[in-house]
Amino acid sequence: MPDYRDPSLPISVRVDALLAQMTLAEKIGQITQVEKNSLTPAVVTEQFIGSVLSGGGGAPETNTPAAWRAMVAGFQQAALQTRLRIPLLYGVDAVHGHNNACGATIFPHNIGLGAAGDADLVERIGRATAEDLLATGIQWNFAPTLALPHDIRWGRTYEGYGQDPAIVTALGAAYLRGLQSTQPAVAGSAKHFIGDGSTTFGSSLTNNLGIQYLLDQGDTTLDEASLRACLLPPYQAAIAAGVQTIMVSFNGWHGVKMHAHHHLLTEVLKGELGFAGFIVSDWQAIDQIPGDYHHAVVAALNAGLDMVMVPFAYEQFIAEATQAVSSGEVPLARLDDAVRRILTVKFQLGLFEQPAGEGAAPAGLGGDAHRALAREAVRRSLVLLKNDDATLPIAADTPLVYVAGAAADDVGLQCGGWTISWQGEGGAITPGTSIVAGLRAALPPHTRLEYDAAGRFSGQAPVGIVVVAETPYAEGHGDRADLALPPADDALIAQMRARCKRLILVVLSGRPLILTDQLPALDALVAAWLPGTEGAGVADVLCGSQPFTGRLSFTWPRSLRQIPDPPVDDARPLFPRGFGL
Ligand code: BGC
Ligand code: BGC
Repeated sequence: MPDYRDPSLPISVRVDALLAQMTLAEKIGQITQVEKNSLTPAVVTEQFIGSVLSGGGGAPETNTPAAWRAMVAGFQQAALQTRLRIPLLYGVDAVHGHNNACGATIFPHNIGLGAAGDADLVERIGRATAEDLLATGIQWNFAPTLALPHDIRWGRTYEGYGQDPAIVTALGAAYLRGLQSTQPAVAGSAKHFIGDGSTTFGSSLTNNLGIQYLLDQGDTTLDEASLRACLLPPYQAAIAAGVQTIMVSFNGWHGVKMHAHHHLLTEVLKGELGFAGFIVSDWQAIDQIPGDYHHAVVAALNAGLDMVMVPFAYEQFIAEATQAVSSGEVPLARLDDAVRRILTVKFQLGLFEQPAGEGAAPAGLGGDAHRALAREAVRRSLVLLKNDDATLPIAADTPLVYVAGAAADDVGLQCGGWTISWQGEGGAITPGTSIVAGLRAALPPHTRLEYDAAGRFSGQAPVGIVVVAETPYAEGHGDRADLALPPADDALIAQMRARCKRLILVVLSGRPLILTDQLPALDALVAAWLPGTEGAGVADVLCGSQPFTGRLSFTWPRSLRQIPDPPVDDARPLFPRGFGL
């Protein structure tokens, strides 16, 4: 029998040699993924747990790189105490940089990168994210999101690169190439397979948390031809780029939950598309499969799930999975296939040789090179939607600029959801540069900047800037029936209009908002999306040291009536996809 610990042997030989020695309990452990607050390292040893994750906001008690490394190493050491010393794979959502780690560079959310539309830029961001992950000992990232958000009322719209399959395909693959390019490598997870951005408004069921979403986790009724034409290409490109894991989506397709969808997971994804990595479930998602939990476990594993993000009640999952295999409801060959896929990825990542992912990160968490890259990404992501009388860039001889809006000086609002906490929040949540701080540094010395969040100015200025932001949100918590600006923002715009000769509105948002009524009052309008920690990138472009180059990767509707699809009698959007001055 070949020795699976011998790194000179081909991976497939090592996997078979290891699998042949594994007990049922050891195999079930490999397919079990638990969130880090729901178990101790001792449980990893006792139950042979294959994977632990940090969910949104899942930082160690002190949120420092050293504490992250110690936390991951603690679980890893426990895994290495098992009989076969199979290393653990630790996963996290680093969806715009290593966003749970305080001090990490936060990049623009994908909607902004779609507007920048540059695969090379996205590839470099993927690599920088991998470097920050390695600085905390982590080698698995639940990214990129390959959704094609159809209805922008969806709370995950900003996680998508755009509404054009070509953009999502090109940028998703580029991100993976960058993410996987470090040594040791970081595995990505293309998500959420499939139809996450195509759900019907109002089709969400009450979810795990007892909350009724509007679109998120709902049902899609796209026909198979459209699904294949629009939604599969990003996954085909991800597979070609070597993606090692794919996460299943919470949504259903014609009433069948994706987590139980044998045709799409096994026949299409693993069969037709030839995906050789492993399929991971989403968070507690198999619990949404109709029937009792035992039936859900059987249905999910038989549909083709390889690893289950349980993520809490691992004893129950292990008990049901053990019974399901012992009784033959789930064939042993199916379990072996799942374990084989998981072990293959662990060998590919070099975890057997270097278990804790301790490769030195070329640039430490939040280093200057990463911040410069993020600032470049911010500059390139801005879309100029209106610019009358050459209001932008701000003329170099401008003596005075008024800036208003709490969002102008708030790193948390700039970052949006999935930043430090799951939902994100306003405030100085992590080191970064606000837009006002960026403007102060970028404006020439003879231009005075006055900032008041509430816009209480008494004089007149040649130029005024109002920055408004959506309150941060993640997932279904951001599902909205209405995308209008809050009345307080309207009032601020009116107030500033009276005080400024030229008025610029900068919108921080995870999607297009309905701004049709505000537009006439504005001289310039800038969509800045959710730019992340480097607000100086916004200032670079407003002040003219860098040009506007971003283009909408989403249609910007004129009214709610045009969402999700414009009616024939009202088909002209406010700004079409591809637009950008
Ligand atoms: C976790 C997230 C997860 C969500 C799912 C949250 O408590 O932090 O990571 O996506 O639950 O409902
Ligand atoms: C989200 C996933 C995420 C997972 C772990 C889920 O609720 O849908 O995108 O990777 O939680 O945080």
